[in-house]
Amino acid sequence: MNKILVVGSSNTDMVLKTERFPKPGETIIGGEFFIFQGGKGANQAVAAARLACDVTFICRLGEDTFGKSTIEHFTNEGINIRSVVMDKNASTGVAVITVNAQGENSIVVASGANALLSVDDIKNASEDLDKSDWILTQLETPLDTVEYLANYSRNNHKNLVLNPAPAMVLPDSVYEGLFLITPNETETELLTGIAITDEISSKQAVEIFKRKGVQNVIITQGSRGAYVDCSEFTGFVESFKVNAIDTTAAGDVFNGALLVALADSKSWKDAVVFASKAAAISVTKMGAQTSAPTKMELDTFLFD
Ligand code: RIB
Repeated sequence: MNKILVVGSSNTDMVLKTERFPKPGETIIGGEFFIFQGGKGANQAVAAARLACDVTFICRLGEDTFGKSTIEHFTNEGINIRSVVMDKNASTGVAVITVNAQGENSIVVASGANALLSVDDIKNASEDLDKSDWILTQLETPLDTVEYLANYSRNNHKNLVLNPAPAMVLPDSVYEGLFLITPNETETELLTGIAITDEISSKQAVEIFKRKGVQNVIITQGSRGAYVDCSEFTGFVESFKVNAIDTTAAGDVFNGALLVALADSKSWKDAVVFASKAAAISVTKMGAQTSAPTKMELDTFLFD
C-alpha cells in the first residue's frame, strides 16, 4: 500500500440543518442537529484511509472528551496516529456548521489545539515524514508548519500537495515547495486576484501559480468540475451530477481521494475523475467524515 502523510486540523463539527441561513441579528428555528467528526485535515486523512490507503495523520487535539473520542475514531479508521499530539492545556477544535435546504453550508471554526500545532510537532514526527512520498496539508493550522513542510519537501524530494483552505496570503517560499495546489474558485481569487469564471480565467490563474513555482495546479469549481494543468494533462474534468444533501467536506474528500489515486500512480486525468467521483458521493450524505465513501461504494455507486 502507498503511504500518505496528512498534516492538518481536526475538529468536532456541530451541525444544524436549516431551511435558510439567518440574517445578522435574526433568530430562526432550524431542523435536526448532529455531532460529526470534522476538520479539513482529518476529513482528508479519513477520506484517503477509507479508500484503502496507508495513512498517517499529524494533528494536535485537546486532551478532552472530544479529543479522546477522536483518537478512538482515527484508530477505528485504521489511521496511523502515533504522531498526534494530545494537549492538556487546549480544547479540541470545534466547528459550528449550518446546512441549508440546498445543501450549502456556512462554517465558523474555534481552532483550539489546531492553532498550537507547531513545527516541533512535525519535526518530532520525522520518521513518519521520511516514510511518506506524498504529503497533504491545508491552511487550518499555523502557516509556519506549512512553510516547514514546503521547505522539507523541496529538500527531500517529497510530493507536497497544498489544499489552500481556508485561503490566506502565502509567502513565495511555500509555492516553491509545492508539487500541486488544489484551490477552489474563491481561494484562487484570493491567492491570484483572478476571478474564476471560465477556462480563460482558469488558465490565467494557473499561469500565476506556475510563475510562483508550483509544479501542478487543479482549480476545483464545484458542480462545474475541475480545471487541471498538470504534467501530462490540461483541461476541464467535469463533475458527476448528484442530488446534493450536504456539500460540507466535498473538497476534503476530493483531496484525500486525489492523493490516493496519485500515490497509486494513476494518470492525472484518471486521478481527478476518481477524486470527483468520491467528492460527488460525499455530497449525497450529511456530515464531513460520515460522507467519505469506501472503495466499495466508489466502485459501485450509480451516477445519473
Ligand atoms: O471542510 C469542511 C470542514 O471545515 C469541516 O469539517 C469543519 O470542521 C471545517 O474544518
